[in-house]
Amino acid sequence: MAEKLKLLITAGPTREALDPVRFITNRSSGKMGYSLAAAAVEKGFSVILVSGPVDSSVIPPEGLTEFVPVVSAAEMAEAVKSRFPAMDAAILCAAVADYRPKIMETNKIKKKEGAFFLELERTEDILFSLGQMKTSAQRLIGFAAETENLAENALGKLKRKNLDWIAANQVGLPGQGFQSDRNEITLYGVNGETVQLPLTEKKLLARQMLDVIFQ
Ligand code: CTP
Repeated sequence: MAEKLKLLITAGPTREALDPVRFITNRSSGKMGYSLAAAAVEKGFSVILVSGPVDSSVIPPEGLTEFVPVVSAAEMAEAVKSRFPAMDAAILCAAVADYRPKIMETNKIKKKEGAFFLELERTEDILFSLGQMKTSAQRLIGFAAETENLAENALGKLKRKNLDWIAANQVGLPGQGFQSDRNEITLYGVNGETVQLPLTEKKLLARQMLDVIFQ
């Protein structure tokens, strides 16, 4: 029997702490990444799911090889980079915070008179790092959420981050994308492929995506 394809998937948002009780995050539900993980298990792949904090209604599929819960971008970067060398492919679907508070206060920040200024610093671009680590035998797939110039921006990211495929979706449209059960994706491949996957349930979309990428 052929070896199972080893696939790592990231999902959900990250949380970047300001102090023990506050953090910066985003509206990612994790549904797209979890749907991809479920579809990949269904396809018979060996799947590692690395996930930021998601709602308890979003449940990891049965049959995962490993489930790795993380909180911050730094934790996600560590979990992903340490596992990637043993993988055949990775799909990074997580909405990783691009910035985090420069200082994480150990005590709760007290309010004062006047304005409050928060200094942020860049987090690691995990997808970019994997693009640098990638061998010719490994496949790397990223997502691009764009409000404008979808094709141009997605193709720029495909090249800059050394990806094999990028799944681009238009954000800011009602009833699809972030927090929704439905989405619409255009897949761009490194060999010039363009595959349109029309608006549908994320579960079905996940299967269609894997069929294109791992045909
Ligand atoms: N990503 C990542 N690590 C980060 C930020 C993003 O791995 N720190 C990954 C996401 O999982 C996604 C892809 O990068 O697969 C695209 O992220 P996005 O924020 O849309 O694009 P950026 O490259 O950050 O570019 P920009 O902010 O200019 O849109």
